[in-house]
Amino acid sequence: MEQKNEKPAPRDNTTSQSAALYDANVEKTIPWYSQFHAQTLDLVGSVMPESALWLDTGCGTGNLAVKAADRFAGVKFILSDPSPAMLDIAREKLQEVAVEYIQSGSEALSLRESVDVVTAIMSHHYLTAGQRRQATDNCFAALKPGGVYVTFETIRPCSEAATAIGLERWRQHQLASGKPAEEVEKHISRYGVELLPITIEEHLRLLRQIGFSVVEILWASGLQAGFYAVKG
Ligand SMILES: C[S@@+](CC[C@H](N)C(=O)[O-])C[C@H]1O[C@@H](n2cnc3c(N)ncnc32)[C@H](O)[C@@H]1O
Repeated sequence: MEQKNEKPAPRDNTTSQSAALYDANVEKTIPWYSQFHAQTLDLVGSVMPESALWLDTGCGTGNLAVKAADRFAGVKFILSDPSPAMLDIAREKLQEVAVEYIQSGSEALSLRESVDVVTAIMSHHYLTAGQRRQATDNCFAALKPGGVYVTFETIRPCSEAATAIGLERWRQHQLASGKPAEEVEKHISRYGVELLPITIEEHLRLLRQIGFSVVEILWASGLQAGFYAVKG
């Protein structure tokens, strides 16, 4: 009898889903995902409503840019991501929008003082401390003076007990969204292994050390948090 040799689809990006399945699964996987975008648009609308050029690094399938293009007329985008498969999907969605695409991780970007807004939504939590510093440095360098940076991240609470509570909440979110238990456990096991979280305090310190003049928490819940920072 012929034996079936079913191999899992090759990973085409660093998330737990292939690019083709990302949009269908992201809300089931990441609690409050659409809040990250809503908070980001709200903040940019207040701090930088006339933004002309917006870099979204780790843009994934372009979901934030789709919403930002809808809300901010005339804004142009630079969308970067190391995954060609993610960028291809973003390209398909944003055919009517002015976008330059860069295939790169944030730690290798070389833009200088040219953009008004930089966003990095759930895209730096794969990086080691050194890579994260380089990535954040590059986001700072890309901004014009007065420009605003927004990042959302997986975070590490201050104690093992709180981490366990956060992971249980994350597990329950995924189970309640209908994801199979085995898939959920596989995802939860990425925490601290493939997802490299830092605490809120460490993140705020990093942003200050990089040179941002205004550094604040934008939003926080469970194991996710958002930060904003303004380049003085
Ligand atoms: C969880 S997805 C988030 C995508 C998008 N920002 C969103 O809001 O849907 C993480 C994205 O980060 C990208 N990524 C992985 N390593 C990265 C790096 N070093 N720099 C920037 N983005 C990275 C992945 O390819 C993926 O598209």
